[in-house]
Amino acid sequence: MLMKAQCTTNEGMLGDFLLAANSGRHLMMRMPERDAETDEFAESVAAGLAARPRRFDCRFLYDSEGGRLFESICRQPEYYLTRTESAIMAARAEEICRYTGPVTILELGSGSSGKTGQLLAAHAELHGPTHYVPVDVCENSLRQACRDIPARCPAVRVTCLHGTYEDAFALFGMTSPALTLFLGSTIGNLDEDQADSFWRSVAGGMATGDFFLLGVDLVKDEQILNAAYNDAAGVTAAFTRNLFARMNRELDAGLELDKIEHVAGYNPRRERIETRARFTAPQSLKVGPMGQSFSIARNEEILVEISRKFRLPPLLEHLRSHGLIARKTFTDQQQWFGLLLLERI
Ligand code: AVI
Repeated sequence: MLMKAQCTTNEGMLGDFLLAANSGRHLMMRMPERDAETDEFAESVAAGLAARPRRFDCRFLYDSEGGRLFESICRQPEYYLTRTESAIMAARAEEICRYTGPVTILELGSGSSGKTGQLLAAHAELHGPTHYVPVDVCENSLRQACRDIPARCPAVRVTCLHGTYEDAFALFGMTSPALTLFLGSTIGNLDEDQADSFWRSVAGGMATGDFFLLGVDLVKDEQILNAAYNDAAGVTAAFTRNLFARMNRELDAGLELDKIEHVAGYNPRRERIETRARFTAPQSLKVGPMGQSFSIARNEEILVEISRKFRLPPLLEHLRSHGLIARKTFTDQQQWFGLLLLERI
């Protein structure tokens, strides 16, 4: 059975979480702040346009249409990340679950939880009834996870949390012993400062007996990287453009979408893909709580997303500086993708 909790405060949310954890039902929970998402979006767009250089927050790429487009990106032949990580997961799920022992499985930025099935099945097989807590800002993806996972794996009970992964930090102490998943190289969408604060929260919230499974895309040939973010079918371009379609839908921004191009390329110095929107005609819009006016010049490019790529030795050192140690490090044969099982030192 799928229930929806109505909670008004964080405390209420946590209380509901505990009830759900003990109720044996599948549950969808909404963080209270999610109701204010349109205001947050407007504020973020206004702040991004006021900043120099201008940039948008990639979190807002994931409304329900963005979530659907991202699922489609994951199926594109050029986007090797998902299938490579899934193959590592399939080969290693049992070993990972043996190592962790029985745990609650929390997933940050879970999407439709496609890659997690193998791990949940291995956990249920080895340890019996399993509690899975996916956390995502895209409610549609969570609904799909709430439907699909119990159908495929009846030993798994699902408690969906509609919120940001920062919201999930509040659950860390309550779910111990837990294995938290952060897959798909989503860590690469955070810049260095955001990643530092993310790891501080993770390490601060983890207790003895908790684990963290991190998926990271590794530095590789530029052509392969560039192709992954410029698929021939144009799905990634549609994903970028959807951010502006969302501004039109939710903020009445009045942007001409056919005058906005997707430009993604690898920056070898910073070892990251940079995705920008290029405006081929001048545009103006009014957004934000004060209805501020902004002009965008012809040929102006605005950063929409970064996707950092990693090298294992410096990454392991960086994690260590946050008090996290990799107990196991898995990669594929080509060393394109890494899966790290972390524990607090
Ligand atoms: C979710 N994240 C890890 C994806 C990435 O590869 O940076 C988002 C994405 N953007 C364009 N394609 C995929």
